Amino acid sequence: MNNYTSTILVTGGAGFIGSHVVRLFVNKYPAYRIVNMDALTYAGNLENLKDIESKPNYVFEKGDITDEARVEELFRQYQFTAVIHLAAESHVDRSIMDPLAFVKTNVMGTVVLLNAARQHWKGQEQGKLFYHVSTDEVYGTLGETGLFTEETPYDPHSPYSASKAASDHFVMAWHDTYGLPVVMSNCSNNYGSHHFPEKLIPLMINNIKNNKPLPVYGKGENVRDWLFVEDHARAIDTIFHKGRLGQSYNVGGFNEWKNIDIVHLLCNIMDKKLSRPAGTSAKLIKFVTDRPGHDLRYAIDATKLNKELGWSPSLQFEEGLERTVDWYLNNEQWINDITSGSYQRYYEQQYAR
Ligand code: NAD
Ligand code: DAU
Repeated sequence: MNNYTSTILVTGGAGFIGSHVVRLFVNKYPAYRIVNMDALTYAGNLENLKDIESKPNYVFEKGDITDEARVEELFRQYQFTAVIHLAAESHVDRSIMDPLAFVKTNVMGTVVLLNAARQHWKGQEQGKLFYHVSTDEVYGTLGETGLFTEETPYDPHSPYSASKAASDHFVMAWHDTYGLPVVMSNCSNNYGSHHFPEKLIPLMINNIKNNKPLPVYGKGENVRDWLFVEDHARAIDTIFHKGRLGQSYNVGGFNEWKNIDIVHLLCNIMDKKLSRPAGTSAKLIKFVTDRPGHDLRYAIDATKLNKELGWSPSLQFEEGLERTVDWYLNNEQWINDITSGSYQRYYEQQYAR
């Protein structure tokens, strides 16, 4: 026995969003014990959690969610009362190179966790919760107008989004078939500190800093809805505590941007921060071969989350982006550690197209 009111398994807590969720929960809820299970793939980094690693209510357990025996061992050891499931292969371009890795982690890994929760909570489902963190990419693409609502039919186009869509269906199937208490959210593009530099915003910041070409796919006309990662973590906190079982909630920033406009905005911010003459960084922009199956536009209607549970984004994009740029400029070591070795090999393969 312990004195914690809840013991929560967070999967993927060493990644970008997971580390923000772990930090929020560990600091805000000292009565909860947070067990971070992470395989520490290329995207997982315990440096992301240096500031909270010695807190008494935080535990790290290395482990792969596809490893049934390891998951079972942790469920037995900690008697989890809830799961917040973020572990995933998360990068669309990598899913095009190696789709099977995405099926293994995102689909099989999710089912392993669902099975473990079902077996351990059988007959004692009251007060338990399996929270699955998903993406807006499951809805496919929008034209010039319209927004994704929770009722939008699933229509994934990349191996990544197909694997996330499959995992979402499994989560809801475990609710409908076995009565597992589940809740889910589908969020738009996150940005902020600790974002792995294979993704658009940190990649552009890093390349601008190093005077490297800024690879914009196609014509840069694709649109994404951007949300500050700490606002996503707050949304997860809200849905975890107040969300209705069996429901999914869309999370978004009401903040649509064309890729090319974001790149220009970053160039302007960086020119100022690096004391370069205006227009210097924009000269690095290079239009490259488009991503296959590239969804044109994502835009989230987060009205349900706002009206039902009272969440809304807290930051304006320009302010969030400025804070993000400052974080990268002040944390050179973090990015230097990541952009060596396997990152270099990935980068060369991806941008040789
Ligand atoms: P990330 O790639 O930064 O982190 C993923 C984490 O999962 C890493 O720490 C990695 O080590 C871990 N992991 C990967 N495979 C694992 C396995 N088999 N077993 C255990 N751990 C494993 O991803 P992210 O951007 O932080 O995304 C987190 C979650 O949020 C994902 O489920 C993703 O689909 C979802 N999501 C991301 C965004 C976004 O903009 N990044 C938006 C909406 C939803
Ligand atoms: O919408 C939520 C999703 O957002 C999450 O589910 C994913 O895990 C996350 O990776 C992100 O997916 P995207 O494909 O939208 O993000 P990415 O940063 O890879 O790309 C954003 C846009 O920028 C997209 O239209 C492709 C474009 N892009 C990306 C890269 C890496 C470029 O033009 N050049 C690049 O070099």
